[in-house]
Amino acid sequence: MSEAVQTSSSFTPRVFSGIQPSGGLTLGNYLGAMKRFVDTQETGVQSIYCMVDLHAITVWQDPENLRRATRELCAGYIASGLDPKKSILFNQSQVPEHTQLAWIFNCVARMGWMQRMTQWKDKAGKNSQNASLGLFAYPALMAADILVYHATHVPVGEDQKQHVELTRDIAAKFNHDYGVDFFPMAEPVIEGAATRVMSLRDGTKKMSKSDPSDASRINLTDDADTIAKKIRKAKTDPEALPSEAKGLEDRAEARNLVNIYAALSEQSVDAVLADVGGKQFSEFKPMLAELAVEKLAPISTEMSRLMQEPAEIDKILADGAERARAIAAPILKETYRIVGMVG
Ligand code: TYM
Repeated sequence: MSEAVQTSSSFTPRVFSGIQPSGGLTLGNYLGAMKRFVDTQETGVQSIYCMVDLHAITVWQDPENLRRATRELCAGYIASGLDPKKSILFNQSQVPEHTQLAWIFNCVARMGWMQRMTQWKDKAGKNSQNASLGLFAYPALMAADILVYHATHVPVGEDQKQHVELTRDIAAKFNHDYGVDFFPMAEPVIEGAATRVMSLRDGTKKMSKSDPSDASRINLTDDADTIAKKIRKAKTDPEALPSEAKGLEDRAEARNLVNIYAALSEQSVDAVLADVGGKQFSEFKPMLAELAVEKLAPISTEMSRLMQEPAEIDKILADGAERARAIAAPILKETYRIVGMVG
C-alpha cells in the first residue's frame, strides 16, 4: 500500500473509502475494508473514511435504524483501530459537497455506463422499473465521494472494483470534456487474502449483511459462542487441507476459510498452508474459531462500550465533517468554475 501511494499519481496521495450504514457489519466488511483502513492509517497518508448514509437510503431504511447503524459503524471504525485524530471520520450527509458534485457527475456519466454496473443489475433485479432513481445513480455519488477530495487511492473489497473503475471513467470524461487535468485517476486498492470473503454456507456467494441466513456470515457484534458455532457449522468438503494454495483452486469453501485465517493472522495463504496442510477440518475449524474470537471479540466489546456514548460519537462525526468540508469545498468551487457556474 505505502509504495503504491507514493508512486502512482502526480496528485498528492490521499485515501478515501466508505461503508454503508445499512445495518450489521460483517467479517467481509472488516477484512475487505476496515482492517485495511487501519493499516493504511498507519502509513501516515491522509485518510478519509466515510459512513455513506446517502448511499444507504437508495434502498429503504427505517430512520431510527439508520441513525443507530451510522453511530454503530462509527463505533466499528474506532473499535477496529481508526483514530479520529489521525483519520477523518464522518457521515456523508454532513458534507453537502458530495451531493453537489454528484449532480455534476450525473450530467457527465452516461446511462449505458450505469446500466452495465453489476451491483445495479444484482440489486435492482428483474424489477428495475421499481428500483429507486438513487440506486441507479449510486455510482455517480460514489465517484463524487472520492473525487471531491481528489483522492488517489480507494481501498475496497473486490465487489467495489467496477465502481472505482467507473469513477476513473467519469474523471477522464470530465477532464476531457472541459479540457482540464482536474480530477485524478483514483486507483482501487484491492489487496490481501480476504478481498472477497465468501458466505460460510455457500463458497460461491459473497458474505453479505443482506443474506437471509445469519449462519452465512460472521457479524462484528456476534459473541464468542456464536462465532465458534458458525465456523463449526461452515460448509466444507471432506478432504484434508492441501499444503499449497494451488490445492485450493477448486475448493471454494476450503479456500474461503483459509483466506479468512490468513487475513486474520496476517500471513500469506502459503504460510498458513505450510502450517496446516494435511489437517482435517475437524482440527482446522477450532483453530480458526479461536483466532476469529481472539481478533473480533475485543472489537465487539469496544463497539458496545462506544455505543453507550452516542453524544461522543456525534461529536467525532461533526468534527470529521468539518475537516472534510475544508478539503471538499474548494474542490467543488473550482469544479463549478470549470463548468461555468456564475457566483
Ligand atoms: P459496502 O457498504 O457494501 O461495503 C463496504 C466495504 O466492505 C467491502 N466488503 C467486502 N470485502 C470482502 N469480502 C466481502 N464479503 C465484503 N463485503 C463487503 C466492500 O468491498 C467495501 O469496500 N459502494 C460502497 C460504499 C461506498 C464507497 C464510496 C466505497 C460509497 N462511496 C467511495 C469506496 C469509496 C459499498 O456499498 O460498500
